[in-house]
Formats: sequence, structure tokens, C-alpha cells
Amino acid sequence: METGTAPALDLDFHAAVALMQWQMEMGVDEAILDAPLNRYDLPESLAVKPAATGARVPAPVDGVPARTSGPDPVAVAAAAAAAASDLPALAEAQRAFDLCELKKGARSFVFADGVARARVMIVGEAPGREEDIAGRPFVGAAGELLDRMLAAIGLSRQAPAPESGVYITNVMPWRPPGNREPTPAEIAMMQPFLARHVALADPDLIVLMGNAPCMAGLGQRSILRLRGQWATAFGKPALPMVHPAYLLRQPQGKRDAWVDLLELRARLDRA
Ligand code: URA
Repeated sequence: METGTAPALDLDFHAAVALMQWQMEMGVDEAILDAPLNRYDLPESLAVKPAATGARVPAPVDGVPARTSGPDPVAVAAAAAAAASDLPALAEAQRAFDLCELKKGARSFVFADGVARARVMIVGEAPGREEDIAGRPFVGAAGELLDRMLAAIGLSRQAPAPESGVYITNVMPWRPPGNREPTPAEIAMMQPFLARHVALADPDLIVLMGNAPCMAGLGQRSILRLRGQWATAFGKPALPMVHPAYLLRQPQGKRDAWVDLLELRARLDRA
């Protein structure tokens, strides 16, 4: 990316539309300047400097530039989450957390849905457009598929009893722009809230749906490699599964998803 005047691009209509679509997929949702600005190449007088000697400089997370000034978001999140003694208090603490940039662009804070004392807790990635509008997780097309998948093994978020109920949340409570994946730094700052959420909801089993939940719960991604193998996340048995949104795009993955659902059912029946 260059600073200064952008070079004139000789684009035809179709190339320009393709370029704009690509930018939207990358998460661009607003044009602020006519020319791109390289924020890594600012004059020294404008660059953010590390805090004074002795201050802790956070380590970069997976290549994401670390914040060099201001409070450490992970430490602030951990303190706020630890102070919450029940689910409503946790929801309020997370809603009040101001250090995640996604909050500024989201319409709703999306906390959870379903049966709070259920044996199964589903952890998804982040709200999409429909969830952002409704303020509830998994209400769009992926959510409808999730409900059908759960019904096939006798579980429902509307169930009256914890035995057949599910409790559903996401790693991120705010919609990322353009439905992009949450960054490692965003996942890291929400992880203490998710850990506390699991402790307070206290399910028997967790399902980690997709890469972001596996990153938050297991410190690993590659859902296609992890799926179907029990692991431990937040002190609970956790089953990584592919996300229903992936199954909508890749229906051939439904066979493996069915195997994983049967494994979940079998483990519930054994315990
Ligand atoms: N995908 C998710 O991971 N969560 C939602 O709430 C909706 C879609």
C-alpha cells in the first residue's frame, strides 16, 4: 500500500466491481480517504511509541501488531470476566467492554441463546448480519441448519429440560465487518469472557463450531483436521465440528458432520 496520491488505475467496469467485491470480502465497509495511507510508515512524530521504560509491552499474537500503549485488553477482559458471579453479570461485563474495535461497528451485542443449564454448550464464531439485527446467535441460514442438525439427535435450544436442551454462544459477541474472521487479537481479548461463560453455564460437553472457537478453546485452528476428535477446552470435554455455514457452502461435508453428531449423542448417552 502506498502513501500519497494513488496511481490512476485503468480498470474496466467488471474489474472495478470485482475489486470492490474483493475489498468487501476482506472486511472493508467504509471509504475514508481517496488515497490509501500506510500507517506502518508514518513520520516518527505521529507513530505510536512504546510506553515508558519498565512498562510491559504485550507480545504480538500470530503476527498481529501488539498494542503499544493503553490498557492490555486481555488483562482488562480477564479482570472483568473474573468479577462476574453469574451469567447476567457476565453479559453486562462483556457488553461494557470497550477495547474491542468490533463493538463500534456492530448494531447489537449478541450474548447467548437457549437453555442456560443445558448439558451441551455450542460455541460458534461471531454474529452475522441476521444475528446482528436480531441480537441472538445463530438465527440466519446457518442457525436454521444448526437447529435441524441438533433436532436430528434429540437436542433443541427451545427444550424445556437441560437434558435435551442446548446453550449457544459465540466467541465474539459483535459482528465483524463483512463477516470476516475474527483476528487472533480479537479472539484473545474475548477468550477470558468465553472461559468464564463456560464456567458459569457449566455444561457437561462443549461443541466448538469452526476455527475461531477452536482457537479460543484449544489454541489451534484447522477445523478439518481437528473435527470429530474429543479434546479438552476450558476444563470440559470438547468436540470440534465444522461450522454449519461451511456445510451450506460444502454440502459434501454433511456426512462427516453426521458422524460427529452421532458421536456427540453417544457421549451424552454414556455419561
Ligand atoms: N455463525 C456463527 O458462528 N454464529 C452465529 O451466531 C451466526 C453465524
